[in-house]
Amino acid sequence: MKETETPLDAYWMGFTANRQFKKNPRLFKRAEGMHFWTENNDKILDGIAGLWCVNAGHCRPRIIESIQKQAAELDYAPAFQAGHPLAFELADRLVSYLPGDINHAFFTNSGSESVETALKIALAYHQAKGNCRRTRLIGREKGYHGVNFGGMSVGGLPANRKMFPNLLSGVDHLPHTHDIKKNAFSRGVPEHGIEKADVLTDLLTLHDPGSVAAVIVEPVAGSAGVILPPQGYLKRLREICDQSLFQYEMSLNGALVSKMK
Ligand SMILES: Cc1ncc(COP(=O)(O)O)c(C=O)c1O
Repeated sequence: MKETETPLDAYWMGFTANRQFKKNPRLFKRAEGMHFWTENNDKILDGIAGLWCVNAGHCRPRIIESIQKQAAELDYAPAFQAGHPLAFELADRLVSYLPGDINHAFFTNSGSESVETALKIALAYHQAKGNCRRTRLIGREKGYHGVNFGGMSVGGLPANRKMFPNLLSGVDHLPHTHDIKKNAFSRGVPEHGIEKADVLTDLLTLHDPGSVAAVIVEPVAGSAGVILPPQGYLKRLREICDQSLFQYEMSLNGALVSKMK
């Protein structure tokens, strides 16, 4: 074993005060349903379902059996130029749950990779359509879109960005919607703040709507403190996107062309 400061030192933990944690570690040894058990056998309620990713509960027997069965039958098949029948079945099922005409699924390994891929798809889509000026991305203050360069660029967490002055260029940000003075103690979706969506119109005007490739926001901001969207806010953003991107395409092509999806 290499020499390290403490026995836990080799594992460099993300988004964690490492020295502090390793002096007083919180380690779980098992989980079931909505609880963890620590090394001292203390039972802990898992209020955030892992990291919002164990929503069916921990160690569900049906899920364990499926994982075990699949690992024994076919553990991995390449995803380039070859495939695994279940990946196609999963994609079919997934798109059947999705709204409107969303009819394709692209699988990735993490949320961060999904965000990078979504941004790349938006940029490549406009290139393929001949709209080469559409390269600008619009994110939001307090937004978290993962740990990669694209996601951090459209994200709005100052602490994550400050070490990396060379993030993607051509990115602007909407204001965040956290308004504690007006929305404190609101139940459900807060009443105030729909006007924050209208800043998108200002940004589109400032930069020219024809230069914008995509707008990305979390429906519920997670990492900055679980901020619910104000009433009507997401619908308004959607309307502005539809309207502006649509109008631009019309004037550019001089004919009615399909809406950007
Ligand atoms: C909105 C959003 N985007 C991206 C990510 C990054 O996902 P991952 O940690 O799987 O890379 C997260 C993670 O919490 C997220 O909440």
